[in-house]
Amino acid sequence: MSESYFPISLHSLRVDTVPPFDLYLLHSSSSPPVLYRHKDTQFTEEVLEKLKQNDVQNLFVPRHQREDYFGYSSKMVAETVRDPDAPVEKKTRVVYDTTATIMEDLFVSPRSNIRIQQAKDTINQAVDLMANDQEATRKMIFLTCHDYYTYTHSVNVTIFATALMQKVLPHLPGEHNYQVIGEGFLLHDIGKSAIPPGVINKPGKLDDEEWRLMRRHPQIGQEILNSTRHGDPIIDAIVLQHHEKMNGQGYPHGLRDDEIHPYARICALADVFDAITTVRSYRDPMPTAVALKVMRDEMGEHFDWDYFNEFVKLFGELNE
Ligand SMILES: [Fe+2]
Ligand SMILES: [Fe+2]
Repeated sequence: MSESYFPISLHSLRVDTVPPFDLYLLHSSSSPPVLYRHKDTQFTEEVLEKLKQNDVQNLFVPRHQREDYFGYSSKMVAETVRDPDAPVEKKTRVVYDTTATIMEDLFVSPRSNIRIQQAKDTINQAVDLMANDQEATRKMIFLTCHDYYTYTHSVNVTIFATALMQKVLPHLPGEHNYQVIGEGFLLHDIGKSAIPPGVINKPGKLDDEEWRLMRRHPQIGQEILNSTRHGDPIIDAIVLQHHEKMNGQGYPHGLRDDEIHPYARICALADVFDAITTVRSYRDPMPTAVALKVMRDEMGEHFDWDYFNEFVKLFGELNE
């Protein structure tokens, strides 16, 4: 059987470390990647510069070495975030790219305990970075990717929702555990891993059966997390209630108003916003201002109005 590879961001490699996996380069989309650096070879500043000069954004790692890659990259994120000499651009980029790569793999193997733990650890770094530094929050929002994939969607939603949470639910001792809430935002759609991609990416309307399946993803998500012992009351509330609407027309339980957990109300706003501002194969993305107007005019009854107003202000402040 021929080897398969997965792309990794150049940003997830730290100079002067020795990656315990092979690095491959893709020269053309019609041929397989070729070996570039053997595992256990020092990754140097010169190598990084050369790759950048050649406009290389991604390298490839053989799939059978993925545990080595994820173990390494989770460690590198923590080191980069702690590094007082690393600029905030670098920190936010490393956290964003690494979390996205972990989430991509997690959607393929959603019951991997170790991958869920790595996803949690990495997003904790992002949430801490955002909680301690307004500039990091700003940079994170600008990094959000506008191509829609379930894994980048998960990271984007976490960024928007965490930024909103900082405004509406200040971090007071013993009150809101930003890290666990961030884990809930990141994992909110994990149940979609059980839904065929043909349904998730279907351009037109879903038929009854497809829609019935789609509406089960909150419960499936909760079940996955509980079966891997990664459930938590806060994470559960976000995963289970992020499609509930304030007017009681949401799913799975048709909860309304205060019956919906505040963290799930925050997630719902970030979720819809990201869905309509990213490119889908069947439509163009909406610019931020248009998206916020559509959310207000056409979906106003779905959202917590106070949170929505703060969400609008958040984007106003970004442009100041
Ligand atoms: Fe969802
Ligand atoms: Fe979502």
